[in-house]
Amino acid sequence: MKQQTVLELLNSEDFQQDVIVKGWVRTFRANRFIALNDGSTINNIQCVVDFENTDEALLRRITTGAALEIHGTLVESQGKGQKVEVQAKEVIVHGDSNPDEYPIQPKRHSFEFLRDNAHLRTRTNTFSAVMRVRSTLAFAIHQYFNSNGFYYMHTPIITGSDAEGAGEMFRVTSLDMKNPPIKDGDIDHSEDFFGKETNLTVSGQLEAETYAMSMGKVYTFGPTFRAENSNTSRHLAEFWMIEPEVAFMELDGNMDLAEDFMKYVLSYVLEHNREDLEFLEQRLLQEEKSKPQNERSDMTLTEKLRFVIDNNFKRVSYTEAVEILRNSKPNKKKKFDYIIEEWGADLQSEHERFLVEKHFKCPVILFDYPANIKAFYMRLNDDGKTVRAMDILFPGIGEIVGGSQREERYEVLKEKMAALDIPEEELWWYLDLRKYGTAVHSGFGLGFERLVMFATGMGNIRDVIPYPRTPQNAEF
Ligand code: 4AD
Ligand code: MG
Repeated sequence: MKQQTVLELLNSEDFQQDVIVKGWVRTFRANRFIALNDGSTINNIQCVVDFENTDEALLRRITTGAALEIHGTLVESQGKGQKVEVQAKEVIVHGDSNPDEYPIQPKRHSFEFLRDNAHLRTRTNTFSAVMRVRSTLAFAIHQYFNSNGFYYMHTPIITGSDAEGAGEMFRVTSLDMKNPPIKDGDIDHSEDFFGKETNLTVSGQLEAETYAMSMGKVYTFGPTFRAENSNTSRHLAEFWMIEPEVAFMELDGNMDLAEDFMKYVLSYVLEHNREDLEFLEQRLLQEEKSKPQNERSDMTLTEKLRFVIDNNFKRVSYTEAVEILRNSKPNKKKKFDYIIEEWGADLQSEHERFLVEKHFKCPVILFDYPANIKAFYMRLNDDGKTVRAMDILFPGIGEIVGGSQREERYEVLKEKMAALDIPEEELWWYLDLRKYGTAVHSGFGLGFERLVMFATGMGNIRDVIPYPRTPQNAEF
């Protein structure tokens, strides 16, 4: 007798077969009906216990959360709600779960409560569905790049440079912080593990560029770290980023790539996680009902995904966007919290969301931003004041992708670094690329958790990564 997953059994028509299934009890009703789940699908399999012939002590051990192994027969179900069920002949308890203490009761828990119990939250429908979707998306991303001629490269996690030049890094050191070596009144990092200051990477882009300039098309997909003190529903201190980088590609090609890629991975998840998405969609519909009428979304989750897949992303320059924003109000009563006074100001998320959700009503690619609000490596336009940057804005999320055409001209890059006090000694290798066989190249970064948020409809980024790291929180 072979062990089968709940998913396999639910799709099976091998009635009267002896089967073995293992999983965790979701509910146990009327001393008879076990709803068992093993993570293979959002659905449970019903296992029917012959309670008259089962030891009472054993029945008492079948509680929500307990790990069971059930030997039985697969039969067509007489009851409503399921096609098949298992007539249990033998129930083996692998692990008891004290019903008075087990935190995940068969009822609706708040997401806050479940965050505090993140080690058990994938025992719920919502979190197992979200994490299955997350897993599928990661696979789809590799699938996309692999079938489009990209090499997967691993960029370092520990680096000596600040790729974004924003100074929001976590320091990595092996020095004794209680008694660090001091030289000239400062901590002497020449005695540190690497002989210099190092930190956790904020982005693999700069190293990815070096590989694009020899291997053509590459991407990295790894953890990145930001010590920005943003306690919002869209920021993590540790998040995963996908960063493709392509030689001989200009900004237009970069936009085409990003759009094609996003559409592919979202179609993939629509096709492969239908039941999870249906569940999440129902959950969202419930949530929407509790909102005031005018705040309710007029699209379901699948409609939102289809909308992104079926429509062209709207491409708008920063300058055009600022014009639109100056002539708009988010709604009749209210002005923006931050008014865009003049050209050159950074857009706030209220502006980004207005453009996507109210004005264009579709994903938007904003490009050609003012140089002074973007990173040093972006290619300067001929106007001398804007750079070939692009941000992709999604409904409900805001910025989901940030990218650019890179500055490939040695002198221009050197000047830019000097103006921003970025030491050449730190990025000599990055400058070398511009000395030896430089060429136009471009890439972007997609925040993986923001993609998972969009695909699942979850409203808080803490609920789409197994163990979120945020200010004042690194539990688990
Ligand atoms: O816009 P960012 O900072 O761009 C870069 O890091 C570039 N080096 C990417 C590149 O061109 N290769 O970050 C890229 C994306 C953002 O659009 C956002 O989706 C996500 O990463 N992101 C975060 N996600 C969660 N928490 C944070 N603190 C994030 N910061 C950025
Ligand atoms: Mg950005």
